[in-house]
Amino acid sequence: MRLSHFSSANLVAFLTLGAQALFVRSSRDEHRQRLLVQRSDRLPTPIHGPHGFPPDNTHDNPPASGFHPPELPETVSFFHINDMHAHIDEWVGGAEVDCKDTHRKDGQCVGGSARLKSAVHRLRSENKHSLFLVAGDETTGTLFYSYHGHPILAEALNDVGVDGFTLGNHEFDEGTKGLAKFLPLLNCPILAANIESENEVVNTTVVPYHIYWEQGVAVIGAVTETTKTESRPGRETKFHDVVSTIQKTVDEILSTTNITRIVALTHIGYDEDKELARSTTGLSLIIGGHTDTPLGPMVGRDDEPPDGEYPTIEKNLDGEKVYIVTDFHWSEWLGHVDMTWDESGQVVKVVGKPVHLVQSLPQEPKLKAKVHEWREAFAPWAAEIIGHADVELESSNCKKEPCLFGELLSEQVALFASL
Ligand SMILES: *[C@@H]1O[C@H](CO)[C@@H](O)[C@H](O)[C@H]1NC(C)=O
Ligand SMILES: *[C@@H]1O[C@H](CO)[C@@H](O)[C@H](O)[C@H]1NC(C)=O
Ligand SMILES: [Zn+2]
Repeated sequence: MRLSHFSSANLVAFLTLGAQALFVRSSRDEHRQRLLVQRSDRLPTPIHGPHGFPPDNTHDNPPASGFHPPELPETVSFFHINDMHAHIDEWVGGAEVDCKDTHRKDGQCVGGSARLKSAVHRLRSENKHSLFLVAGDETTGTLFYSYHGHPILAEALNDVGVDGFTLGNHEFDEGTKGLAKFLPLLNCPILAANIESENEVVNTTVVPYHIYWEQGVAVIGAVTETTKTESRPGRETKFHDVVSTIQKTVDEILSTTNITRIVALTHIGYDEDKELARSTTGLSLIIGGHTDTPLGPMVGRDDEPPDGEYPTIEKNLDGEKVYIVTDFHWSEWLGHVDMTWDESGQVVKVVGKPVHLVQSLPQEPKLKAKVHEWREAFAPWAAEIIGHADVELESSNCKKEPCLFGELLSEQVALFASL
């Protein structure tokens, strides 16, 4: 397919010259939308390295005083996000563009680390016993990552204050070696039961599960096996079957501890989470990610209705209920589910109440200032106009079928290769 008002020859020239972005004028929208074409050779090398976050991976040490089940809080609040994809700054809800003053005037901005931080802090103050868990795919998606690399993703997460993190497939986008630079910067347990890595940093940093003794909760991590083809883990890291690995880990926790409140923090996708619930025993809650699935009150892209209830309920192999939650993406929402257990470890009450992180919710000022500084670093570089198209380069359907943006890029890559 050819574009009516766009010269392929010009575009390839831009790309050849190392141009990093296209300006696209939408045919149905007066505004100019920016689509970024990132060229790795133009990107500054991410500044990896010691960043002042000591890893805190002293896992699984029960309190010295011993563990007394009757003293456990009845209700634990779980806050969660997934698929943040480097959306460190607020963005325009429903659209996929940066938040500018014009959007702010109309109250269209959502999400971002600073707003997330305020929301998590408020919820923590209102819910005594809580865990904030991140279900993978922090990496890749905006210039914050492409320009600054992993350190600011870690700094933002640490600043918000995270209790546990599972790997997403995109965490492997810079290879297992890239992951090994990211993980030591995080100051929370990193959970993935189904990976086996020959990388010493990865295989000493990532643990299968973590027990939060105060809450009496064990959280098991798992990442999609499709990471092999959906990212670049290389040969160093192997991915094992999620369902059998999680069952084995549940059985180990049940047979070696008094913990009966077992949660899976997964990055495998919504349908796979439901399948995991149906094919195992012992899990009360699954907090998922990967498919960017809106649930319950969440509204997807282009006003897409939610794909299920928040929480979604499935029966496990013992006929017991398993609750499944996931949080759409990019921190537009903060997932929140309250789980209440009785003394025998049976779930007796579940209340789901995700929070829409809309513009009227405050952004924590210190993190907001940091985000601003991080944006300023690449703003002039990103503002360089290198061309424009008079048609909309549709890209939202690219994962499902041939799309205009994909066809344009493939054509340019082919041209580029034949130069
Ligand atoms: C971790 O990686 C090191 C270095 O490759 C290797 O010697 C070691 O056996 C690995 N450990 C595990 C548990 O896989
Ligand atoms: C489990 O509970 C029993 C009885 O409450 C106690 O004797 C035992 O030490 C506990 N075990 C662990 C691993 O906490
Ligand atoms: Zn993913």
